Amino acid sequence: MKTVFSGVRPSGAIHLGNYLGAIKNWVELQKNYQCVFCVVDYHAITTPFSPKELSQNALETAATYLAAGIDPKQSLIFVQSHNPDHTEMAWILNTIARIPELERMTQFKEKSEEHKSAINMGLFDYPVLMAADILLYGTDIVPVGEDQEQHVELARTLARRFNQTFGETFKIPESMVRKEGARIMGLDDPNKKMSKSAESSLNYIVLTDTPEVIKGKIKKAVTDSGSEIKYNPENKPAISNLLTIYSLVTDKPIEQLEKDYKDHTSYADFKKDVADAVVEFLTPFQKKFNDLLEKPKEIKKILEDGAKEAREISEKTLREAKKKMGLI
Ligand code: AMP
Ligand code: TRP
Repeated sequence: MKTVFSGVRPSGAIHLGNYLGAIKNWVELQKNYQCVFCVVDYHAITTPFSPKELSQNALETAATYLAAGIDPKQSLIFVQSHNPDHTEMAWILNTIARIPELERMTQFKEKSEEHKSAINMGLFDYPVLMAADILLYGTDIVPVGEDQEQHVELARTLARRFNQTFGETFKIPESMVRKEGARIMGLDDPNKKMSKSAESSLNYIVLTDTPEVIKGKIKKAVTDSGSEIKYNPENKPAISNLLTIYSLVTDKPIEQLEKDYKDHTSYADFKKDVADAVVEFLTPFQKKFNDLLEKPKEIKKILEDGAKEAREISEKTLREAKKKMGLI
C-alpha cells in the first residue's frame, strides 16, 4: 500500500478552507492508502503564538481529524513534537538544503512580511522540517492545498540530492492537489485565499462557528456584478467560490448546481441555500468534535499510541540516512 503523509499547523481555529482543501480529501484517501496525519506543532511555533493556546490548539486539531472521520485504527495520528526523529532529520537535511533555495519560498516571504519583527530561523527552516516530516515515512503522496506545493517540491529536491550524494535512501514524494477546493477564497475578498490570519473574521468560516454565525457570514459574503449563478473564477470569483463550497459540502458537481440555479435571478436565495448546506455539513462534525473534546484523555491516548507507532517507522529511515552519511 502506498503511503500518504500530511499535516496541519495547530495555530488557531481551523477554517472551512483547511477542511475542504485538505482534511476532506484525507478521509477519502485513508480507504486506499496507509495514511499518516500529523499535528505539526513545531511548525506552529515559527510564528508568534501563546503557549496556553498552543496546547489547546494541538488537541483541537487532533479532534478535528478524528471528527472529520480519520480513523485511528486505519491511520496514524500523532503530534510532531512527540517524535524527535523529525527535528533530527531536519538537521541532517539542513546540511544539504541551500540558502537561496529557502529564500525563494513564497510562504517565507509572505510570513516575513506579516511578522516583520519576528523573522526567526525556524520560519526560514520551516520547509526543511516539512521535508523531514514527509521523507521519514517513505511517503508517496502528500495531499495539500496549492500553497504548499512549493514546499513538497523542495522535499523532492532534497530527497534526490541526498540520494545522489549518499546513496539511495529516500522515496521521492509527490504532491496531490485537488483542483476543486485547493483554494477556497475569502468570503469578504474572493481574490485572496481564506485564511486564519485575515483581518476580518468575515473572511472565513471557522469549523466551530454556530449556525447563526455561518449564516451571517455567508449572507454578508461579497458577490459579483450580474445575477447569474455561473462558475467563472475570472469574471465571477465570489460566486465561483460559493459554488465550490456548495459543491464540496453537498458532493454535488458544480455543473449540477449551475443547472439547479439556472432560472434564479437573485444571489440572496442562492446564498441562503449555500449557508444551509454548510450548516448541514458542519453540524454532525461539530457534535463529534465537541464530544471528543469532553474526553481529552482519550485524544491524548490516541496521540501517544500514534507517536509510538510513527517512531517505529521513522527511526528506520533516520538510522539509514545516518548510516549512509557515515554517522556512527
Ligand atoms: P495551514 O492552515 O496553512 O496549516 O494549512 C493546512 C492545510 O490546509 C494545507 O494543506 C493548506 O494547503 C490547506 N489550506 C489552507 N488554506 C486553504 C484555503 N483557503 N483553501 C484550500 N486549502 C487551504
Ligand atoms: N506546511 C503545511 C501547511 O502550512 C503543514 C505541514 C507541515 C505539512 N508538515 C507537513 C503538510 C508535511 C504536508 C506534509 O499547511
